[in-house]
Amino acid sequence: MTDQPSFAHDIKPLFRESDRTAMESAFDLWDAADVRESATAILEAVENGSMPCDGAWPADRVGLLRRWVEGGMAD
Ligand code: HEM
Repeated sequence: MTDQPSFAHDIKPLFRESDRTAMESAFDLWDAADVRESATAILEAVENGSMPCDGAWPADRVGLLRRWVEGGMAD
């Protein structure tokens, strides 16, 4: 994996189909533009463990999303 994670290769696979379905009224977790637009709320929710609703992500997955957000949110 390069230093700069990409949405298609590294971030999209983090979101299960059930995550996408649960959140589709707010944003599409499989769409890079949607995730960019809500990146602050999404990162905050996985960092404080409130999302996904059925159990918090492990720290390395949260770290990967944070690196993508802080690294410019590449496609
Ligand atoms: C990684 C996956 C997920 C992310 C990043 C995520 C993120 C978020 C965010 C950012 C909000 C606030 C939306 C807003 O204010 O408009 C939210 C709300 C919500 N999410 Fe998720 N979510 C995820 C998975 C899930 C799952 C699996 C469920 C349940 C099946 C769920 C249920 C809800 C519900 C009920 C709300 C609205 C009320 C609340 O804030 O608790 N989410 N989620």
